[in-house]
Amino acid sequence: MPDYKSCLANPQWGGRFAGGPADIMRDINASIGFDQRLWRQDIRGSLAHAKMLAHVGILSPEDAKAIEDGLNAIATDIAEGRFEFSAALEDIHMNIEALLSEKIGEAGKRLHTARSRNDQVATDFRLWTRDAIDGLSAQVSSLMRALAQRAREHAATPMPGFTHLQVAQPITFGHHLLAYVEMLARDKGRLEDARARLNECPLGSAALAGTSFPIDREMTARALGFDRPTRNSLDAVSDRDFALEYLSALNLLAMHLSRLAEEIVIWCSAPFQFVTLSDAFTTGSSIMPQKRNPDAAELIRAKIGRISGDYLSLLMVMKGLPLAYAKDSQEDKEPVFDATEAATLSLAAMEGMIHDLRAAPEAMRHYAAAGFSTATDLADWLVRALKLPFRTAHHITGQLVSIAERKKLDLAELSLAEMQDVAPEIHEGVFGVLTVESSLASRRSFGGTAPENVAREAQRWCDILGEE
Ligand code: ARG
Repeated sequence: MPDYKSCLANPQWGGRFAGGPADIMRDINASIGFDQRLWRQDIRGSLAHAKMLAHVGILSPEDAKAIEDGLNAIATDIAEGRFEFSAALEDIHMNIEALLSEKIGEAGKRLHTARSRNDQVATDFRLWTRDAIDGLSAQVSSLMRALAQRAREHAATPMPGFTHLQVAQPITFGHHLLAYVEMLARDKGRLEDARARLNECPLGSAALAGTSFPIDREMTARALGFDRPTRNSLDAVSDRDFALEYLSALNLLAMHLSRLAEEIVIWCSAPFQFVTLSDAFTTGSSIMPQKRNPDAAELIRAKIGRISGDYLSLLMVMKGLPLAYAKDSQEDKEPVFDATEAATLSLAAMEGMIHDLRAAPEAMRHYAAAGFSTATDLADWLVRALKLPFRTAHHITGQLVSIAERKKLDLAELSLAEMQDVAPEIHEGVFGVLTVESSLASRRSFGGTAPENVAREAQRWCDILGEE
């Protein structure tokens, strides 16, 4: 049960209330259970607000100093676990303000001049989301670096490239890993875009209409690292699309991580054995002693479930909300906290797995050659060397594949005579394009899988991301 400091009317607004709220009212109303995570941002916002109030002459320098010292002391109390959060005081804003007044008296009661919890929470939450974006963006870079380094190591390691999860054409393992670096680079770009758009300061919008006090909103915006103050007070206190935009960026990130996680699960399964995961990122089975399970990958694969649920929760909370602030908005925080935690854990675990995994080049090379994976190379050769139209070349190759399939041979194992039975113009030159290595080496088009391309791209990413 929440801890209630008193059963009397809330000290922050008790003036017009004769009695306290019903227990159940406190339970449904209190957000301190989760919004205590905003304490750093709340104190930061209050420090900036108090300084500005003193600057424009609304607060005396003495009161501003007392407030600053008081808030700093509260920050230390909270950081050191000495602060007892009270559900009777509802949320982080009133908890801190009440303690400030308790500590410094009268001056503490002046802090809330020219602001409301509506602009306060909107500011705190933007600051929190901005910090979360910065943390995640650094983590994404770090995962990209791990992938790029492994890609550089495996720039020439053949593996089967799949379409429909059927062996399609040979690629390199490095090329496959770099595909995820590209995805993550876009994810990072989306996080940065969201950051740029959210970086406006709501503080000073007050409850909804602005304030009659001569405040300096540019000053608080600057002090809090925002690019500018928000331009419309109604929008500022009610907008939560910065949080939704952040969550939608996390959704795409989580989707990408889930795809990579699924590939890892496939790659380390017995029929594939393309990679082995380290002990650090696998678990055993309580009954089957031989098992090494890719639990971390499976959990990352699953996190998209809660992250997309978080996005939808907030989207539904905001849908149809009339302007300006409504208490519904208090429901904005848990989904954002939850998704942030899931993404943070997923990125850390994925980076660990990528860093540690051991590739099995022999197994990958074996399947890279399986399933007539160089059939396209043969068709391309017929076009290049014999000047056949691609459609005709495709047809001839299809016939050769079916002969090889019947004889249980690889394309390279067919004799020249067998090939000439299908197309008499075929000559010895064809054998130069049928191996995995020749196929790989030929894919030199921009963005293609040729080892020299991959090595260059991997190095490019390593340079951009910096070596660790
Ligand atoms: N705890 C509230 C929230 O998170 C703070 C704002 C409360 N504003 C109000 N008008 N009751 O939304």
